[in-house]
Amino acid sequence: MIKAFVAGWPIAHSRSPLIHSYWLKQHGIAGSYERVAVPPEDIPGFIEGLPASGFAGGNVTLPHKEMAFRLAIPGDDTARRLAAVNTLYLKNGAVYGINTDPEGFLANLRATVPGWSLRGERAVVLGAGGAAISIVAALAEAGAGEIAIANRTPEKVAGLASRIAANIRAIPWEARGESLGECALLVNTTSLGMAGQPVLEISLERLAATALVTDIVYVPLKTALLRQAEARGNRVAGGLGMLLHQARRGFELWFGVAPTVTDELHDLVARDIDRSHGA
Ligand code: ATR
Repeated sequence: MIKAFVAGWPIAHSRSPLIHSYWLKQHGIAGSYERVAVPPEDIPGFIEGLPASGFAGGNVTLPHKEMAFRLAIPGDDTARRLAAVNTLYLKNGAVYGINTDPEGFLANLRATVPGWSLRGERAVVLGAGGAAISIVAALAEAGAGEIAIANRTPEKVAGLASRIAANIRAIPWEARGESLGECALLVNTTSLGMAGQPVLEISLERLAATALVTDIVYVPLKTALLRQAEARGNRVAGGLGMLLHQARRGFELWFGVAPTVTDELHDLVARDIDRSHGA
């Protein structure tokens, strides 16, 4: 029986158990994936105790991603670059950490638009908070020609740019709509549009009809931004896909099988989100 976990604080609403339990069942693996509520002061002890815990590894989510990076051995360059990890695994009795958020983000876009490429193109990113760094790292990795970032607090863009080697340009939050000309990808990484948060206000008038629009928010499943983009004929990719794709590498590391993101899995998690948010 192979055991894995997701540790966070709070953790009750994590959809990761639904995802991994689906794959365990699909592949007939005798394993488990459970939520563990770990308050911030307990995360060092939790991670140090992993080799003797019986867990093969697990995910860490808010607010533990940075602390987990400091406590684990970085398993790849992405983890080092982001100084944050979301996936832990054991190797030779030691705890390693990697960050699968950037690959999850790109895999979702490639699954939504087969053949999608950003090479040499311009991307506009809204937000420069905790979630933005993974997205910007992914866009750099995908070969973006320019990454324009609009954030309410402009200083945060400079902080982000100093950590990711890419052609990053800060644009004023107020100019977010005007900045959309020549842009191949628009990404919302802010919390705006999330259930219970204010809506994201933006004019898409200047956005090319060929541009792809995506949102990391997945509650609701289709944000007002995605609806607005879809209504004018743009292709859109929902945020739930990123959550599903980022889970793949952890599952493979712990359980030894590379899983796929099926429509059935997407619908299973989507129904759970609809149920708890009354959509
Ligand atoms: P973090 O992820 O760093 O904890 P957050 O408070 O969750 O930050 O906010 C995530 C992102 O949403 C940030 O880019 C934030 O902008 P600031 O850096 O200016 O705080 C953005 N955001 C949240 N509320 C916003 C609002 N009302 N208007 C514009 N941007 C907002």
